[in-house]
Amino acid sequence: MRKGILSIGAAAAALTLGLTACGGESGDTSAESSGAPSAAAGDAKPGKIGVILPDSKSSARWETADRKYLQEAFDAAGVQSDIQNAQGDKTAFQTIADQMITNGATVLMIVNLDSGTGKAVLDKAKSQGVATIDYDRLTLGGSASYYVSFDNTAVGKLQGEGLVKCLTDKKADKPIIAELNGSPTDNNATLFKQGYDGVLQPKYDSGDYKKGPDQSVPDWDNTQAGTIFEQMLTQEPKIAGVLAANDGLGNAAISVLKKQKLNGKVPVTGQDATVQGLQNILAGDQCMTVYKAIKKEADAAAQLAVSLAKGEQPQASGTVKDTEGNRDVPSVLLEPQAIFFDNVKDVVADGFVSKDELCTGEFADKCTEAGIS
Ligand code: BGC
Repeated sequence: MRKGILSIGAAAAALTLGLTACGGESGDTSAESSGAPSAAAGDAKPGKIGVILPDSKSSARWETADRKYLQEAFDAAGVQSDIQNAQGDKTAFQTIADQMITNGATVLMIVNLDSGTGKAVLDKAKSQGVATIDYDRLTLGGSASYYVSFDNTAVGKLQGEGLVKCLTDKKADKPIIAELNGSPTDNNATLFKQGYDGVLQPKYDSGDYKKGPDQSVPDWDNTQAGTIFEQMLTQEPKIAGVLAANDGLGNAAISVLKKQKLNGKVPVTGQDATVQGLQNILAGDQCMTVYKAIKKEADAAAQLAVSLAKGEQPQASGTVKDTEGNRDVPSVLLEPQAIFFDNVKDVVADGFVSKDELCTGEFADKCTEAGIS
């Protein structure tokens, strides 16, 4: 765990975040979230950081990865934090934000449930002098001081290219493609789609691929995704490739394909390198996933938050355009990586998932085959 302290600095250097030294390295190694304030960056006691995660169903990442890495980074810096999950409830989201501010948060980091709710929370925080960060999802028309995420159009591009690779490997002839998009209220879902449609649309236009059903899944709800995909397959039984926007949606499609014994024959994409997604890849049922090194994302966001909590004014290296608010938001964007059967081992080597959780039971032999040791 202590390794995390050093890598905060390393990640920041790689991202060329123009931060002044935040003193994270000197944090008390025994500090917990309730936290001993660090004395490293001046005499003033740093403020509290509040984080609101969106839910625990749309992707395993929020609870298994983001919460863990953010907590480790805050603890390493010795800054007090409160990480909560709105569990998909927009009213709860606002209530949590209000409580955090009442309880003394001076920095608020949110993963919005939609831009409207996000904007209300950000604007209110700002009016009360609380610094704000959009974490992973940009709040359109919002007022966050910073945005930390991955290059989400690049994520979508990797998905599109991944599907093309898997279809080429299968020598698919004029395959009919189904698109199972993320939540229409998540700006990331829009960016993912821009990325994969940028790859697929030319193939539809040239007649190499045939465009099949194309639908968004409200709130990234995995159960609804299953229902939607079932309808897609009934309407178009010859679907030969599925662009699913994340591993949860991909798994919903795979469950439906299994009932028709089409799993493994119809390539399905994903995102997040969840244990379930990686196991689906090992089993041959999923073509690829996109690995986003969430530790780097959490470390970059935590470094900004810690700096803000200490009253500093950190500078991010780049900006992202909020087209609705017509504003350039200071941003840090990280690079995603495509994962196929052959490089599932990279995700294990990076410490994102452990061999123990991945290579259980029936997956043990597949893990050996995939070079996971
Ligand atoms: C995130 C994805 C996640 C999805 C559902 C997106 O905003 O970028 O990593 O799979 O939300 O939670």
